[in-house]
Amino acid sequence: MPRPISATVSVSALAHNLAAVRSHLDQTAAAAGGVPPSIWAVIKANAYGHGIEQAVAGFSKAQGLAMLDLDEAVRCREAGWGGPILLLEGFFNPSDLEIVDRYHLSITVHQREQLDMLARARLSRRVDVMLKLNSGMNRLGFSPAAYPAAHERALLLQQQGVIGSIGKMTHFACADGPQGITEQLAVFNSVTHKMTGPVSVCNSAATLRFAEVAVGSESQAHWVRPGICLYGASPFADAEAAAFGLKPAMSLRSEIIAVQELKAGDSVGYGALFRADRPMRVGIVACGYADGYPRHAATGTPVVVAGVRTRLVGRVSMDMLIVDLDPIPAAGVGAPVSLWGEEGPSVDEVALAAGTIGYELLCALAPRVPVTRDA
Ligand SMILES: Cc1ncc(COP(=O)(O)O)c(C=O)c1O
Repeated sequence: MPRPISATVSVSALAHNLAAVRSHLDQTAAAAGGVPPSIWAVIKANAYGHGIEQAVAGFSKAQGLAMLDLDEAVRCREAGWGGPILLLEGFFNPSDLEIVDRYHLSITVHQREQLDMLARARLSRRVDVMLKLNSGMNRLGFSPAAYPAAHERALLLQQQGVIGSIGKMTHFACADGPQGITEQLAVFNSVTHKMTGPVSVCNSAATLRFAEVAVGSESQAHWVRPGICLYGASPFADAEAAAFGLKPAMSLRSEIIAVQELKAGDSVGYGALFRADRPMRVGIVACGYADGYPRHAATGTPVVVAGVRTRLVGRVSMDMLIVDLDPIPAAGVGAPVSLWGEEGPSVDEVALAAGTIGYELLCALAPRVPVTRDA
């Protein structure tokens, strides 16, 4: 018998979340009298832990897919995705361009070295590029001072038949927080307003809170790049995914594999971090940090056992964690445990209790956890 832990990825929840984002964008565009943006569903990091093939199935109605790894892009093509694919970091060396060419990928161009490589490349067809501006995050992108010259070079490569369309792109550092996008958007607009081509600026947080900036017109197409919200998790510390009509796409489940009866004063787990203040039952769950459950989740982190919400107690160990069974007296060995997902808690609640974000937990699901795909 394998350990009773598994993750389920719901393709219908992925599709539902995409449709929810689509509807939000359509409503925003209708209210503004403009053209709704297209969606690049971001599926980097193995689709935030959900699996590339599941993402291709769940996001079949997206206009495009965006990711980092060439291998993942190739897997999308092999899984039957014929639409646009954007590589969010572009390419890293000249040999990557052969794959870009063969699999008809679009690329982010964020630095001079990439333009140099493109100038030397021998491609069988034009490659569409999104030219990235560093509008203040200081991660990837041409500085505002360097961007116009980079754009001129891209135009030259376009005239030479190397580049196809040239889009304008940036990434917001604070769309999820009180600072918002105002400053970076002002930089982006001031640098790029005279340049034509598709525009892409919004991640999940900006798509959900500032969709009006992604409304296009007949002459100006817009694309948004949501990631985390499509998996049913929230990009915000102060708002739950469910508030946006999103459904969790990944459910991590296990079972109680042993029960201990504690006397007042007994402790559980490494470091004896939790001590019972009265007689109580605790359940040992087959799930630990080697499965991707966060070791920093503290006593009190929500866990659902047999449909009832209870709490983690003590320190998470490599293969097991311990839960308070007092609210569920009937639960014994074999009782179902939901660590996060459909039956709750949400991955964001667990992340909060562990001092991290849902993104990290979803991406960190360990390869040893078997993943089943739900319709
Ligand atoms: C360039 C870019 N666009 C979009 C996204 C999607 O972000 P999120 O998952 O917050 O929607 C990311 C993720 O980090 C990104 O790096």
